[in-house]
Amino acid sequence: MELFDTSLSILQEIKLDPQQFRNVRLLVKRDDLIHPEVSGNKWRKLKYNLELAMYQKKDGILTFGGAYSNHLLAVAAACQLAGLQSIGVVRGEELTADSNENLKRCAALGMELLFVSRESYDERNEKSCQEGWKEAHPHFLLVPEGGSNYYGIVGCQEIGKELPAETDHLFVAQGTTTTSCGLLLGSDEKTKLHVVPALKGFDAIAEMRKQLYPVLLDEETMNEYMDRVVVHPEAHFGGYGKWTPELLDFMEMCRKEYGLPLDKIYTGKAFHALMEWLKAQDFQTLQTVVFLHTGGLQNG
Ligand SMILES: Cc1ncc(COP(=O)(O)O)c(C=O)c1O
Repeated sequence: MELFDTSLSILQEIKLDPQQFRNVRLLVKRDDLIHPEVSGNKWRKLKYNLELAMYQKKDGILTFGGAYSNHLLAVAAACQLAGLQSIGVVRGEELTADSNENLKRCAALGMELLFVSRESYDERNEKSCQEGWKEAHPHFLLVPEGGSNYYGIVGCQEIGKELPAETDHLFVAQGTTTTSCGLLLGSDEKTKLHVVPALKGFDAIAEMRKQLYPVLLDEETMNEYMDRVVVHPEAHFGGYGKWTPELLDFMEMCRKEYGLPLDKIYTGKAFHALMEWLKAQDFQTLQTVVFLHTGGLQNG
């Protein structure tokens, strides 16, 4: 399925001061440019889920999210473009389709919004709960929150084909780990994958192993892949959804000096971690460093 042309996702070269950053070629893979509402990793994660829904002749996709979820918006927009219906199960029974701009836009794109209590939302991944949703909506494919499933990983794996073969270091923001797991599978075996969790105290390695286990099956192969992962655990600026004036100043500098828009929940923090890491390096040979822009610009 090619709803979007991923050639819009260019590799943008960032011009760094060669005195301060020796032997570095820094590129940003601009997946945020794929589509204004199905941007960044959202399209990558949804692509094969949409294909599966069509192959199985489903009416549409049923998925889950919070009131400000970019994932809900992406599902609503992608389903509309693919000619599928969409249902969004939203956390918070007190909400309505008019509660905020994100939900209004989801509804305008044709998404049916079902508001549930926080307690029942928290049980959404339990087997009995999943069965309940399937029974109530048998013609819909269930996709987990954030598009975080096998098909999401496969879609993110494809990004690897669009990266320079000589990539030495690849940086990405991390939430559920779906994007980073796909990148790990799809990138060259000499590429180090640097992951920057947006959550404080997140066990990135354990979470990636959990996601990858059903795909890789054996421990030895898993270890070979995981040996390429570098975690930057202290780049969360206080935790998920938190930020500081320093982060906002940094984002403003990136916009002005590099022409690079970033968001304050994921990509701003991850790009900050990359720049801090670069400052501490002294490369003796030319290194190609790539930052995957995973979108999220709706977050501001
Ligand atoms: C803009 C942005 N970047 C990165 C991530 C993290 O991706 P993942 O959940 O696949 O680890 C998300 C969450 O989906 C996101 O919205």
